[in-house]
Amino acid sequence: MRRRWVEVRATGVETGAGLQRTSVEMLGKAPMARYDGKVVFVTGAASGIGRATCVRFGSEGARLYGVDVNADGLKETASMVRDAGGSMEIASCDVTKRDACFAAIADCVEQLGKLDVLLNVAGVVRFSHATETTEEDWNLMLAVNLSGPFFLSQAAIPHLIATGGNIVNVASNAGLMGQAYTVGYCASKAGLINMSNALAMEFVKTGVRINCVAPSGVNTSLVHGIQFPDNMDGALMKRYQGFRPMSTAEDIVNVMAFLASDEAVAVHGAVWAADQAVSTG
Ligand SMILES: NC(=O)c1ccc[n+]([C@@H]2O[C@H](COP(=O)([O-])OP(=O)(O)OC[C@H]3O[C@@H](n4cnc5c(N)ncnc54)[C@H](O)[C@@H]3O)[C@@H](O)[C@H]2O)c1
Repeated sequence: MRRRWVEVRATGVETGAGLQRTSVEMLGKAPMARYDGKVVFVTGAASGIGRATCVRFGSEGARLYGVDVNADGLKETASMVRDAGGSMEIASCDVTKRDACFAAIADCVEQLGKLDVLLNVAGVVRFSHATETTEEDWNLMLAVNLSGPFFLSQAAIPHLIATGGNIVNVASNAGLMGQAYTVGYCASKAGLINMSNALAMEFVKTGVRINCVAPSGVNTSLVHGIQFPDNMDGALMKRYQGFRPMSTAEDIVNVMAFLASDEAVAVHGAVWAADQAVSTG
C-alpha cells in the first residue's frame, strides 16, 4: 500500500535514523511554538512588515528586540506584541550608523542573554528619473537598505555562531530585476542579495544560516508613501504590478517565520521570491 510522505517520515520506517528523529520531533511540536526561548532582533519594527514580524514571532514564543528610528511606532508595536502574548524590548537605532548597530546588538545580548535570529527588515524607497536621482536619495537607500544590514550582520555573526542562529534579510523583486525609476533601490536590494550570498559562503562551515526573502508590492506605508516622478512612462511601471493582488505584510512574514525557524535547516544562501511571480517572467 502506498503511504503518504508525512506518514513515512513520522514512522521513520523508510528514513535514516537522524532524519526520522528530526521529523518526528517536528511533527509532534505545536506549529505555533517554533521560537520558544529564541531571541530575535528585528529592524524596521515600528511599521509594516517589521511590525507584523514582531507580532508573529512574539506569538510563536520569541523574545524580541525591536529597533527603528520611529520611537512612537516602536512603542505601539511592543504593545501589540504584548497583546499577542509575547515580550519585546525596544530601542531607537538608526541602522545607517555602524556604531549604533553594534551598540544595539550588544544591548540585545546583554539584556536577553544571547542572539538566535537577526531579521533585517528596515528599508526605504525613493522614486525618480535615474538622471535626476539626488545624491541624498541615492546615499539614503544604500545606507538603510544595504549598509545597515551589513553592519548588523558584522555585529551579530559572532553571537549567531555561538547559538547556531540565522539571518533573514528582506530584499525585493527590485533586487532580482531592473525596475524603472528606482535605480538606487534596485542597486541597494541587489547589493543586499549578493552581500547575503557572500556572507553565506564565508560562514558556510559554521552552523549559521543566511537567507533573503524578496517580496514585490506589499500593502504597507512604504507603498502608500511612494511619490512618482513627473512625466513617468506608466507602461514601464505596469511590468512590476504583476497580475495578482498585492501581498499583505503577514504573507511575507509567513515566509520569514519559516526561513528563520529550525524547519528551514537546509536553506542557506537562498533568495526566496515572495513576489506573486513578478520576477518570474
Ligand atoms: N512594501 C513593499 O511593497 C515592499 C516590497 C518589497 C520589499 N519591501 C521591503 O520590506 C521592508 C519593510 O518595508 P515595509 O513595506 O514594511 O515599509 P514601512 O515603511 O512600513 O517600514 C519600514 C520601517 O523601516 C524604518 N526605517 C527607515 N529608516 C530606518 C533607519 N535608518 N534605521 C532604522 N529603521 C529605519 C521605518 O521607520 C519603518 O518603520 C523594506 O526593506 C522594504 O524595502 C517592501
